Amino acid sequence: MKTYGYTYQAALEASERIDWRVEDLIGGDKRLDFSKPFLPETFARVEPLTFLSPRERLALNQIRGLGYLYMFGVVEEFILPFLLDHARPQIHGDAYATRAVLEFAAEEAKHIHLFRCFREEFEQGFGTPCQEIGPAESIAKSVLGHQPLAVALTTLHLEWMTQRHWIEAVKDDQDLDPQFKSLLKHHWMEEAQHAKLDTLIIESLSRAKDATALEGAIDEYLEIGGMVDAGLASQVEFDLDNLARATGRQLSAAERETFAAVQRQGMRWTYLGSGMTHPRFAGALFELLPAAADRVGKIAQSLS
Ligand SMILES: [Fe+2]
Ligand SMILES: [Fe+2]
Repeated sequence: MKTYGYTYQAALEASERIDWRVEDLIGGDKRLDFSKPFLPETFARVEPLTFLSPRERLALNQIRGLGYLYMFGVVEEFILPFLLDHARPQIHGDAYATRAVLEFAAEEAKHIHLFRCFREEFEQGFGTPCQEIGPAESIAKSVLGHQPLAVALTTLHLEWMTQRHWIEAVKDDQDLDPQFKSLLKHHWMEEAQHAKLDTLIIESLSRAKDATALEGAIDEYLEIGGMVDAGLASQVEFDLDNLARATGRQLSAAERETFAAVQRQGMRWTYLGSGMTHPRFAGALFELLPAAADRVGKIAQSLS
């Protein structure tokens, strides 16, 4: 499998040059500005909902921002134990590999904390409690019930997806709340190393596997994706109620239907399609098994 010259040593050195703290990004005078949107429109998809007023669309954008904080809270909860399990048996092996994977784990623990602090800030400022999918621990348990290569592939999907979110959708959007934008930027900085390390982990987990075993791992990756998709469907239903509670607006049956279709598609792109179609992720699948890359690519076509 192609690993693009990535090494544990170089990833560790890059990590060591990045030293932001959670407290630098949120808390104290660093507050969310609720007069601004939190997510770019390619993710939030509030503009097609023309039956909502501008104020209601803004509230929905922010509700989707909270969903983003929860979703990443959920996924980092399974990445952290996965990395610790992966690191433990090879603690006496290559020193750079051990240190780089433990650094990766420590950064994910920091990200869990970061997303939690942003959620607390949101919940204080938004004024209306919102319902979100979870709890994160039980979702993490179901994901970790899958084989390590499937979990590593899911993680790689998420890492490249995070890269794409910042670079393609957030970096040049001048309307977004600066604090929320800073969260995505700082997450991106560390996830860049994670994507490389995860590629190396996948290379080592897949080395001894034949085509049937690889196909099995990719089936399980798709099963995890299916689980995420079912979670997104529930979140759309919660968001209908979250918006009604926050704004007092009750939608008609036809409006609810449009809301659900547009929002479901927006969430599918945000969390599934934008990862599955990332060239480096699709490339990794192709390296493992060209037929699987083709299969995943076809599924991803409906997730734009
Ligand atoms: Fe992360
Ligand atoms: Fe990560």
